[in-house]
Amino acid sequence: MDEGHRTIEALFDEARTFPPPPELARRAVVPTDAIYAEAEEDLDAYWSGKAERLVWRRRWDSVLDWSKAPFAKWFVGGTLNVTESCLDRHLGEHADRVAYYWEGEPGDRRTITYGELHAEVCRCANALASLGVGKGDRVAIYMGMVPELPVALLACARLGAPHVVVFGGFSADSLADRIDDAGAKLVVTCDGAWRGGAVVPLKEMADDAVARTPSVRHVVVVRRTGATVPMTPGRDVWYDEIVPDQRPERPATECDAEDLLFLLHTSGTTAKPKGIVHTCGGYLVGAAASHSMVFDLHETEDVYWCTADIGWVTGHSYVVYGPLANGATSVLYEGAPHYPDRDRFWEIVERYGVTTMYTAPTSIRTFMKWGDEHVAKHDLSSLRLLGTVGEPINPEAWMWYREVVGGGRCPIVDTWWQTETGGLMIAPLPGVTTTKPGSATLPLPGIAADVVDEEGHSVPLGQGGYLVITRPWPSMLRGIYGDDDRFVETYWRRFSVPEENRWVYFAGDGAKRDLDGYYWLLGRVDDVMNVSGHRISTLEVESALVDHPAVAEAAVIGRADAQTGQAIAAFVTLRGDREGDADLITELRDHVAAKIGKIARPASIVFTPELPKTRSGKIMRRLLRDISERRKLGDVTTLANESVVHEIAERAKGAPRAEA
Ligand code: WTA
Repeated sequence: MDEGHRTIEALFDEARTFPPPPELARRAVVPTDAIYAEAEEDLDAYWSGKAERLVWRRRWDSVLDWSKAPFAKWFVGGTLNVTESCLDRHLGEHADRVAYYWEGEPGDRRTITYGELHAEVCRCANALASLGVGKGDRVAIYMGMVPELPVALLACARLGAPHVVVFGGFSADSLADRIDDAGAKLVVTCDGAWRGGAVVPLKEMADDAVARTPSVRHVVVVRRTGATVPMTPGRDVWYDEIVPDQRPERPATECDAEDLLFLLHTSGTTAKPKGIVHTCGGYLVGAAASHSMVFDLHETEDVYWCTADIGWVTGHSYVVYGPLANGATSVLYEGAPHYPDRDRFWEIVERYGVTTMYTAPTSIRTFMKWGDEHVAKHDLSSLRLLGTVGEPINPEAWMWYREVVGGGRCPIVDTWWQTETGGLMIAPLPGVTTTKPGSATLPLPGIAADVVDEEGHSVPLGQGGYLVITRPWPSMLRGIYGDDDRFVETYWRRFSVPEENRWVYFAGDGAKRDLDGYYWLLGRVDDVMNVSGHRISTLEVESALVDHPAVAEAAVIGRADAQTGQAIAAFVTLRGDREGDADLITELRDHVAAKIGKIARPASIVFTPELPKTRSGKIMRRLLRDISERRKLGDVTTLANESVVHEIAERAKGAPRAEA
């Protein structure tokens, strides 16, 4: 098994333990570990209890229907509209509580209360309805981090119209693919987004995409940067011309617990991204319960900041749905962490008195590299809890986060989960769990995980294998949109025993458990890379490269990188006798950015006359990884063309490595 770039031995050496701080434990949302046993004793009662925290129109008849496994139904017979839990119920007494402190990159600010958010969501829902959006219609959202972004998600949810958010860093091609896959009827976008002092031309890219997607009837455009953008009459509408005059009320559409809430596409091991299906009831139960327990949310005291973009699942569950369902006050920041200076994040923490911060290891490593002085400039004494997500966190970064950002007093919750799981799966409960730097610790109450070998047998503590989830959970994905076979094939075929009705979810990650049963995540075991916490498929990048007329063949791997976790390394053979040079490298990187998005641009490209292949023609990525990470080459005896690896190794030595 490929264990990525971490070895468990190295982790154990550094494993220190940090028990929960007593003052936090005393008043924690989850104050004792009895909850684990309670959940095991009666899972239905446990999940019912979590569901009862939300607003339902009709109570469910049964908690789980697993009779058609692996296709699950949760809270069967229940009906709700998720926005009633996220907005309406906070109105009365808490209408003036702040839902979001929003800060734009250029420095503009807005404070949005629950009352205001509710009104704006209703106005936006009315506007979308006036453009023909109704229950079940899919709406694509391609925006920057402006307040209208959560508003757009919630307006869709209000109408029972599933949203399909596409991260603003994706290209027009990627957007078109996702719109097409979803059959979206409407797109909400912006005239542009601020990022690092520059404008990302979202509207132009949306136009390019929509020109190819006949399902789209209207494009709603939020004015953000003031850039002049083309508007297609009859199709395009300015948000500020259609929303403000709408009535600030809109009855919420009653949805079945299992109605589609959203699709979110994620990279898999083929070139085509998967539209992950999440439904209303179970998803919100999972997001809300985990948010409250793991972030120990005291809603009237905490100021919570999840730095993720809403374009990713972390933003869906922990910027929008979880925090709002729990009545939290959140910070929403539009831009880059280095704009205008490298202390922007810490300035924000100080300004709003952030108590709980949730960010990615790649950001933490970047801050580490920038130096402690940027952190030290600000008073961060409001912080009491820190979270991380997206990739394995190395113990050094964990310790730096704890000591330099958290002043040594804030517990760190390292949270393992995925787009597919909808919510946190393996994470500490900060009032209960003793943490170890680099370990996501233990499965949450009610969640059953295991580490198994090739045959699916549980491996003893202290050993590594494949991370699996062995029983269903409320916020689990319900499928891959329009592709049931791929759903079963990707997640369930490998370790399930259908004859025995044993269904085992394969996460695609490697993990080891230590002798205390703690989980240490070791990275992906499939052809999915994790670059700065973003999932990118090697095959997707390969097909973008071979789409370029100069390229005959390409192989892509994720090589270990101290900053981004993994960096994209490409090996390319050219057509005919064309010679590769620096210009072509730039051209190919730009080509990938245009096909997928800037996040998928290879950090290095090595031209090679051939790729190392087995006799059956399979590219041996393992060897390319060895070369890229400058290791001794592994077994080359199965290669059809052994001499080529040595040549590639030579060429790779001199190859330039760009910042991604
Ligand atoms: C990785 C992001 C180690 C993992 C929420 C997973 C992690 C993929 C962690 C999902 C963590 C996420 N420790 N690895 N705490 N959190 N991962 O779908 O490989 O964008 O499978 O969801 O990120 O990425 P996704």
